[in-house]
Amino acid sequence: MTKQLYISTYGCQMNVYDSARMADILSPLGYQLTTDPNSADMAILNTCHIREKASEKTFSELGRLRNMRKSKEEAGNGEMVIAVAGCVAQAEGAEIMKRAPYVDMVFGPQSYHKLPQMLAEATRQSGGVLDTDFPVDAKFDHLPKEAIDKNLSAFLTVQEGCDKFCAFCVVPYTRGAEFSRTVDEIIDEAKRMIDGGTREITLLGQNVNAYHGLDAEGESQTLAELIYRLSELKDLQRLRYTTSHPLEMTEDLCQAHRDVDILMPYLHLPVQAGSDRILEAMNRRHTGDEYRRIIEKLRSYRPDLALSGDFIVGFPGETDAEFEDTMQLIRDVNYAQAYSFKYSPRPGTPAAALESQMIAEEVKSERLARLQALLNEQQLAFNKSFEGKTVPILLEREGKREGQLIGRSPYMQSVYVQSPPHRIGRIAEVIVEEGNANSLRGKLKPGSEQDAA
Ligand code: 5AD
Ligand code: SF4
Repeated sequence: MTKQLYISTYGCQMNVYDSARMADILSPLGYQLTTDPNSADMAILNTCHIREKASEKTFSELGRLRNMRKSKEEAGNGEMVIAVAGCVAQAEGAEIMKRAPYVDMVFGPQSYHKLPQMLAEATRQSGGVLDTDFPVDAKFDHLPKEAIDKNLSAFLTVQEGCDKFCAFCVVPYTRGAEFSRTVDEIIDEAKRMIDGGTREITLLGQNVNAYHGLDAEGESQTLAELIYRLSELKDLQRLRYTTSHPLEMTEDLCQAHRDVDILMPYLHLPVQAGSDRILEAMNRRHTGDEYRRIIEKLRSYRPDLALSGDFIVGFPGETDAEFEDTMQLIRDVNYAQAYSFKYSPRPGTPAAALESQMIAEEVKSERLARLQALLNEQQLAFNKSFEGKTVPILLEREGKREGQLIGRSPYMQSVYVQSPPHRIGRIAEVIVEEGNANSLRGKLKPGSEQDAA
């Protein structure tokens, strides 16, 4: 009998990847994904702990699920297993069991391969199951071979965890120390993804460019070396990686951007702040100018490279002048896209102890608004710069309008194109007619019948 599985995913791409693998693991048990939590036999919240706002959502959504379960049971439609997964589960597992005792299962990011076993235990016993152990290698070893992303554009986790300990960040505590999968395991997974139809792979890791997995000879390999290996796979057309730390932008990785055709000219390289004093307080271990020099080098190797970044405003003690340093760095680099946040103190991190230096909420809001205005301006200018140009677009799916397809540019821009649906899965040459704040609109280049597919 099929059972309905509802998964609600918060946070980063790593969680998106993990949610898909959970669905893969539960599918042999008869669970089928649904978007309607009301009918779910099992509901999983895959949570994010990175900022307070994300964390709080866990408890409000849990309350809603509890009500849905009650209605479902009262209507005689069976039970609902409620599970909390991901980083809030890892960091606050015991707290969840206490605050929301109706939750059946709580498990961290390294335990989901044990889902069938935990599910059996949870349905047998009352009081809930808590599993927040840390064996990352076991997680990948125990994933069934079918548990891979087969989308046209798909994710492949190559590395997890982080040893950088930025002063504001919970990731080293929730995802644990760095762990890299082996080269062979990754190549094998990539091949199976490509056989399943994938044409674009994004290599995932919290600190992906710190990748140091072993090859078949037991030698440690860099991310660049892994990229060269993957670039030899037949039918793989695009390769990306995220998220990176500036300290790990090694010479060989910078050169890969020059030498590997299928490596897309788009890099997410967070800097967080522009002031050297704040960067030091954040324990980023590089200066603003060192970051600028990395960007210059990358652009000298790959002139069409565009950048995306992450920024935090209002880190404890940040003065107006130090905030202006961040604004100046943004002007110097010129981003195609970016994510920006108000600093949010996270329990257990060093920065959270700097209570006396916390920045007032209004000041943070005002700084964030100014920073986002500048980033939005840059993003719009970047998108407009494509007007009239011909760009290779990987056509991914049908749009809402009749005859419309949606694809992605090399720079991850969403592109709306009038095209017959049989072109889905191909890279088409598209003339961009309009660049907007969040997308591009274009038409197929005449005579591009033999799309570069
Ligand atoms: N407060 C605000 N933003 C944060 N980030 C990480 N921790 C915090 C925090 N405590 C941001 C960083 C990181 C992104 C994933 O989230 O910019 O790169
Ligand atoms: Fe967090 Fe810093 Fe590690 Fe990124 S590099 S995950 S911001 S500790």
